[in-house]
Amino acid sequence: MAHQSTYQPKTAFTRWLDTRLPIIRFMYDSIVTFPTPRNLTYLWTFGGILTFCLLVQIVTGIILAMHYAPHVDHAFNSIEHLMRDVNYGWLMRYTHAVGASMFFLAVYIHMFRGLYYGSYKAPREVLWILGVIILFLMIATAFMGYSLPWGQMSFWAVTVITNLFSSLDSIIPGLGTTLVQCIWGGFAVDNATLNRLFSLHYLLPFIIAGVVGLHIWALHVPGNNNPTGVDIKDVKKEAIPFHPYYTVKDVFAIAVFAVLFAYLVFYAPNYLGHADNYIPANPLQTPPHIVPEWYFLPFYAILRAIPDKLGGVIAMVGAIVILFFIPWLDTSRVRSTSYRPIYKWFFWLFVFTCLALGYLGAKPAEGWYVVASQVFTAYYFLHFLVVMPVVGIIETPRPLPSSVAETIYGRETGAGPQPQAVPAE
Ligand code: HEM
Repeated sequence: MAHQSTYQPKTAFTRWLDTRLPIIRFMYDSIVTFPTPRNLTYLWTFGGILTFCLLVQIVTGIILAMHYAPHVDHAFNSIEHLMRDVNYGWLMRYTHAVGASMFFLAVYIHMFRGLYYGSYKAPREVLWILGVIILFLMIATAFMGYSLPWGQMSFWAVTVITNLFSSLDSIIPGLGTTLVQCIWGGFAVDNATLNRLFSLHYLLPFIIAGVVGLHIWALHVPGNNNPTGVDIKDVKKEAIPFHPYYTVKDVFAIAVFAVLFAYLVFYAPNYLGHADNYIPANPLQTPPHIVPEWYFLPFYAILRAIPDKLGGVIAMVGAIVILFFIPWLDTSRVRSTSYRPIYKWFFWLFVFTCLALGYLGAKPAEGWYVVASQVFTAYYFLHFLVVMPVVGIIETPRPLPSSVAETIYGRETGAGPQPQAVPAE
């Protein structure tokens, strides 16, 4: 929420800087005094958790890169060397690998929170769109990172996914093949491919960090949505300063998240990975089942649900592209699903659909698994293209509270304890 700056530089240096580059004022206004709805739940801590994840990935990734050799003959061994010989190399690697899973877990919770509370609706469309761009970048980064150990799963995942571009041959003959060779840097997945994957894997997280900056900027203009979906009317009654109230809540949530993270790093570091990636890449032997990491499984199920190669690629990419249009596909007058008696059911059906697609993505593409994947893929798209627009029109939402204050202090008074102002230093 745009608000009047209350920052007052104290020293000669900060006064001097403030009239030249008011960066401290900017940080103070966005992290200290920023008015934040009083009624945010723990689901609103995931933005902070995600920022933590991004930092962990960047720091551990830079350390890993100091020991990694991006060459097909050395990549696998350089990682084994890091794991066995480099001080705390195992810790850096397991933190980075488990960190990727934790990052996706957090981002999916963050997105479903946004979907449930209608946080993508006006005036937060740009915030949402920037989020979808971040998701795209995260998917690309994680895919490229997974290729780097150059194990069997790395190599075959790269082979399967890069080959998808060849499906463009059925639109313009030769286009797909040319594109694939361009990506490979040759006529097969080889050293040039690994080099460019490494280069881009190092670059993209910094681009993600830049887009996250825009994402938070786009959040700070309209301010946070909240569980009621009702706009804040009276900042004094309904909002509190971000610091200390939400800094402490975010830090607590990050600590709890870090316990699960640490459990996986120290007790089950390979639980979420695939054992075949400890076999060095062998272009002459295809693994019996090529399965991506868990966070890609729903998209993989959609890819394989369509019998036609190009159709599968379009559906898989479309499953993410469609997210850009949600702000306009949802026709409901209210934001929060809590007040939507019909849509609520469809929301949970959609969650179930995503979980089912995740399950099916891990199964071989045969028999009833394929049929089930087709049914759930169909619902995935119907949810956005039919359910969202139609239910929004026909449903009568439950009465909304007249204000956020009413949900906090009760209908009668709207009064109650007043928020504490940030003490002037
Ligand atoms: C690196 C990944 C990301 C980071 C670091 C990040 C960071 C944040 C932060 C700090 C907030 C404010 C606190 C909160 O509401 O939790 C936020 C809000 C939000 N984010 Fe993200 N985000 C990321 C990815 C995404 C993605 C992938 C989407 C959706 C596709 C998304 C959609 C939103 C929305 C709609 C809000 C506003 C929520 C509300 O006020 O109700 N974000 N994000």
